[in-house]
Amino acid sequence: MVIITVGGLNARLAFAISAAAFGSAFQHGFNLGVINAPLNIIRHWMNVTNNERSGEYFTETEQTMVISIMVSIYCVGGMIGGALTGFFAERFGRKGGLLLNNIFALVAAVLFGFSKMANSYEMLIIGRFVIGINNGLNAGLCPMYLSEIAPVNLRGAIGTAYQLVLTISILIMGLDTILGTDDLWPILLALTGLPAIFQLAALPVCPESPKFLLITKDEPVTAQRALTWLRDTTNVQDEMGEMRNEAEASKLVPSVSLREILTNPTLRIPLVISMMMMIAQQLSGINAVIFFSTDIYKSAGLSSEAALNATIAMGTMNVLMTFASLVMVEKFGRKTLMLAGLSGMLVDVFLLFICLLLKDVVPWISYFSIFLVIFFVVMFATGPGSIPWFFVTELFAQNARPTASSIAVAINWTAAFLVGLGFLPLHELAGPYVFLIFVVLLIGFILFTWFKVPETKGRTIDEITAVFKQTAYGANSV
Ligand SMILES: *[C@@H]1O[C@H](CO)[C@@H](O)[C@H](O)[C@H]1NC(C)=O
Repeated sequence: MVIITVGGLNARLAFAISAAAFGSAFQHGFNLGVINAPLNIIRHWMNVTNNERSGEYFTETEQTMVISIMVSIYCVGGMIGGALTGFFAERFGRKGGLLLNNIFALVAAVLFGFSKMANSYEMLIIGRFVIGINNGLNAGLCPMYLSEIAPVNLRGAIGTAYQLVLTISILIMGLDTILGTDDLWPILLALTGLPAIFQLAALPVCPESPKFLLITKDEPVTAQRALTWLRDTTNVQDEMGEMRNEAEASKLVPSVSLREILTNPTLRIPLVISMMMMIAQQLSGINAVIFFSTDIYKSAGLSSEAALNATIAMGTMNVLMTFASLVMVEKFGRKTLMLAGLSGMLVDVFLLFICLLLKDVVPWISYFSIFLVIFFVVMFATGPGSIPWFFVTELFAQNARPTASSIAVAINWTAAFLVGLGFLPLHELAGPYVFLIFVVLLIGFILFTWFKVPETKGRTIDEITAVFKQTAYGANSV
């Protein structure tokens, strides 16, 4: 039986986590998945719209181009949003930044909702860009807020909440078939306004991050009030003391600049680690395997209904395993889960490669491939899916956290963008051999994690940054 350590979790903290995660992570997962179901209908509508406006239909090339722009501009928005994380977090606060970010979601919802009425696919494209900015900011600000309101012993579990809600929303979007119809798709896309409205209603009740109030704003009284609210007890002296230590340490450099973070070795080492974790998440092959899953189900002779069930099973396993990782991350640590997940994915993707080569020779092997696809997702959810989002917030003290998050989150979206752009051409070129690229990459990520990534479980930020000072300057000089 699994026992969840609930020390430190109370109703108020749970409410703050929900307000942040359902508002932000749901928004992110929703938009990752929402465009798939109505894509063909939108394609057709764009073609017809173009004819109504100019009297000409799209050629195949034009059509592909407009759709590609619509899909990829979302990632470009994400990169920009990710890069803006630091500015928003410092200027408006973690909670303030999250609240403000909902404006982007509402603007996008309006653009989506009226695009069909206005006969304008440009509105759809701009909407995708705007919601991309929103999702990028969410992916940076939400894990930061969660990590800063969490007690040390639950920081990983609470950080995992981001990915948990994200997988839940992807699963829900996979089930949707009702709204992906001719008339209703603008409404479907505009539903992105709902998580924003939810967050605008729920998050104002919760306090700003106590660390932001104390260390960045130097407001000890409001910080203590916020912490008292979150812990639901006035006995917060120890934690206040810990935060004061962090504040003392960061007084010398109130806010770390981009230049500083790239040149100072005690900051550059954790930055490289955070970036590698983000790259590992995106370049581990998860999107490739999910993309291939349709083919694999088909070649195993699954009917389209059975294939849909397999997809739902995959999404469900993703949610369940992410939930399990939420518990395990405080028990076994970040590094262990990351290594376990990446190693499982390595073995899995290699077997999958062999299965794809043999699928015409050995008929039953298709069924084994289905198992491998689902197992791959399970391994992804064990660690690589959730840990990178909050790991960056654990490696840096308050003064460097916003800048570091900006870079790491922007890198994540860039990697996602490149995979989206490069995978299909590579697949056309190399067929199943494209999986060998992931084998090589995964070996690299495993070695990097093994040798370079420190364990952060149960450690305070002070203790973690001390590790990097030692690595950078040698144990004796600190
Ligand atoms: C656009 O619609 C016209 C008329 O239905 C069709 O002939 C043409 O192939 C369509 N173009 C694309 C790219 O689908």
